[in-house]
Formats: sequence, structure tokens, C-alpha cells
Amino acid sequence: MQLIDGKSLANKVQSSITSEVEKLKQEKNIVPGLAVILIGDDPASHAYVKMKAKACEKVGFYSITHNMPDTISQDEIVATIEMINDNPRIDGILVQLPLPKHVDTNAILEVIDPKKDVDGFHAYNVGRLVTNLDSFVACTPLGVMKMFEEYKIDLKGKNVCVVGASNIVGKPMASLLLNADATVTVTHICTKDLKSHTSKADIVVVGVGVPGLIKEDMVKEGAIVIDIGINRIEDGSLVGDVDFENVSPKCSYITPVPGGVGPMTIAMLLSNTLKSAQVRI
Ligand code: GUN
Repeated sequence: MQLIDGKSLANKVQSSITSEVEKLKQEKNIVPGLAVILIGDDPASHAYVKMKAKACEKVGFYSITHNMPDTISQDEIVATIEMINDNPRIDGILVQLPLPKHVDTNAILEVIDPKKDVDGFHAYNVGRLVTNLDSFVACTPLGVMKMFEEYKIDLKGKNVCVVGASNIVGKPMASLLLNADATVTVTHICTKDLKSHTSKADIVVVGVGVPGLIKEDMVKEGAIVIDIGINRIEDGSLVGDVDFENVSPKCSYITPVPGGVGPMTIAMLLSNTLKSAQVRI
């Protein structure tokens, strides 16, 4: 069993981004800029946004966080996004999800200029991903693809089971895998007999937020298991969606939690923002 070390790969990606930022500053006098919109006081969202801002600082980006109360209206959020769309110093806009219940999330995401949509959530970018055209791709699935590339894991013709069909993880993950010529099964909350799907897969990618959902008898010998879940359990520790202790001995490769996919999500956010800054007009 080999661990896929997301932390060290993310550090490697961040080092290369730092050099690219230096080049961009010297050659074009451009400092990549990221704007984050954070609504309400969900502690997990606050923690993620803090990590993103810190990562921006580390690679030399300009970043700004717009903190808004959860009583804010849809119109006020839209007006803020429109203002950022027009700000020439900003290359990437990220609206931290989930949004409060009274807010129409899809309508908000549609207001973001697709050219600044570094989260890849706008329908324009989702459509381009599905048609295998260059686009901004959601950071978590993009980070998983980067891990496959780094560890030379060939996807062509592989049976991959994606557990979870969310717009931000499962669906873009499935599109990327299809574009890489894998045979993809997507399972979700209504799937009957999850085990019948996961146990046939060469690769299982899970991101649902259920601690220990994937058990030893659900994966085949030699499988590759990618755990996207980050769950805080009662004792305060972080665990994934995979019962790591019992599943890992069966795997050829597996990602740990923490230190697996999580750091890659932030690295890909930086990478997408840099990509946007490099084509700034
Ligand atoms: N909430 C959970 N994951 C994400 C993410 O990748 N981007 C944003 N904007 N919100 C999230």
C-alpha cells in the first residue's frame, strides 16, 4: 500500500506557482488577485477561507475577503459580485459555499464573470468541462486529477466508482474521469446496494461527508481509494469517508485524511487564479 501524499504535492505546486507569480510581476507588473465572499458565521467555512487567504499570501497573491452577515439579501450579494467582476485587480472570485438558506445559490454563481470563476462552478465552465474544452475546473476534483498524474495512475479504461454526485465534487469529478477515458459509475444517496458498485471498481473516489462510509468489504484487493471527505468527529479529530484503518491494507494506493485531497483543493484554487491572471487583459 502506498500513501498518496497530498500535502507534499500541494507544496510542490505552490512552489511552482510562487515562481510564476514572480515572473508575472517582473514581466507584466501583474499581481494575481483573489476575492472571497464569505457569508454568515459557519465555523468550517471561516476556517477554509482563512486557509485560502493564508495560501494566497504565501505565493504572493493579493487577496481580499468580503465578510457578510447571513441576513444579507440576494440583491446585495449580486451587487458585490458585479462590483468585483469590474475590478481589474481581481482575477478570481470565490463564493464560499454553503450559502444561507434564503439565498438562491445557483443564481449567485451565475453572476460571477466566467473568466474569473476560479471555482469552476458557473454553468459556462461546467458546460465547457463536460464538452472537454478548456475551462476553469472545480478545485477538489482537479486536485484529484493532479494526484493521478503525479503518481502515474493510468485512467484509460479503468472502472472508477465516484461516490457522491454533488455539483462541486462528484459531477465535475465524473466529467474529468470520462474525459480521461475511464469507465465511470456515479453513485449517490438514492443508490441501491452501494457495495455492489464500489467492490467492482479499480478506483473508488468518495466525497459525501459520511465518516467511515467505505468499509473493508466494499473495495477489491489492490484498489485505489481517494477520500475527499473531511469530517470532524466527537473527539475533535478529522476523519474521511473511508474507514482508513481497515480499508488501507487492501489498497494499492490510498489518500489519508488529513494530508490527502484537502491541501490539493487549495493548491488548485491558486493554480486557477494564476491561470486567470496570466491572461489578464
Ligand atoms: N465549500 C466546500 N467546498 C468548497 C469549494 O471548493 N469552493 C467553495 N467556494 N465553497 C466550498
